[in-house]
Amino acid sequence: MKGILLAGGTGSRLYPLTMVASKQLQPVYDKPMIYYPLTVLMASGISEICLISTPHDLPRFKRLLSDGSQWGIRINYREQKIPNGIAQAFIIAADFIGNSNVTLMLGDNLFFGGSAFPNAVANFQKGATIFAYHVRDPERYGVVEFDNAGRAISLEEKPASPHSNYAVPGVYLYDNNVVAMAAKLAPSARGELEITDINKIYLEQGLLNVHRLSRGVAWLDAGTSSSLHEASSFVHTIEKRQGMKLGCPEESALRRGFISMSAFTKLTESMPNCEYRDYLVGIAQEILRTEFDQ
Ligand code: G1P
Repeated sequence: MKGILLAGGTGSRLYPLTMVASKQLQPVYDKPMIYYPLTVLMASGISEICLISTPHDLPRFKRLLSDGSQWGIRINYREQKIPNGIAQAFIIAADFIGNSNVTLMLGDNLFFGGSAFPNAVANFQKGATIFAYHVRDPERYGVVEFDNAGRAISLEEKPASPHSNYAVPGVYLYDNNVVAMAAKLAPSARGELEITDINKIYLEQGLLNVHRLSRGVAWLDAGTSSSLHEASSFVHTIEKRQGMKLGCPEESALRRGFISMSAFTKLTESMPNCEYRDYLVGIAQEILRTEFDQ
């Protein structure tokens, strides 16, 4: 399974913050936003990743994430010159995807809790797997409707009168057919290649698996100044209580076995003195201690 991180868009709803850096590079408490979806992919065992962003922002992502080898993964980069919709990602990254299955993750989606994504990636065989999450304001999202037996029966993009409260979060697993489907897709009324239209094709073919995320999972939005602030304080609250950080690629790389303990130690030694480094040093000590205990 390969992974795509889509981090395009103008982020106009975060103006003037987006004059400084793109939305997905904004801080969510103590890390850039992109770290969170990146570590969801890594924690799902995906180590070949393509990041797509605007020509303007791509150099900043490259500076931050480099080629991924420091975390035992490979990060490729592709430009989205004109933002023509989420499904355009499969056209832009077609050569990267090759013959593989692919998980697309939106760079501004933050999750906490559960193991739905690693399980879905591990069990994925064919068709498409998407997720559904109960929200108060479904009209802002792709919306999925279920019948009494819990089967998905309809999908709509930002409907004025939603048929359910189940929104579709920005994590999508597809088989390789998605590349050809995206190439044939017609733009929607708002002129975009809609990811919801891709999902509708899989639904019509009887190949769409919709997994309902439990209420114990947090899916946060960080697209406006106030929701960005709320996401930051959520991360702060959880990290402070648990003494464990969310969205650390170094930690994911170590726990997933993408890098060795000695490579991890080298990484931490190269960092300036800061809370982030102290945390990672503590993680290494804890892992070594528990290995010794066993
Ligand atoms: C996009 C998708 C929508 C999905 C949402 C998740 O919306 O079009 O179907 O529910 O991401 O974040 P956008 O972020 O472009 O408003």
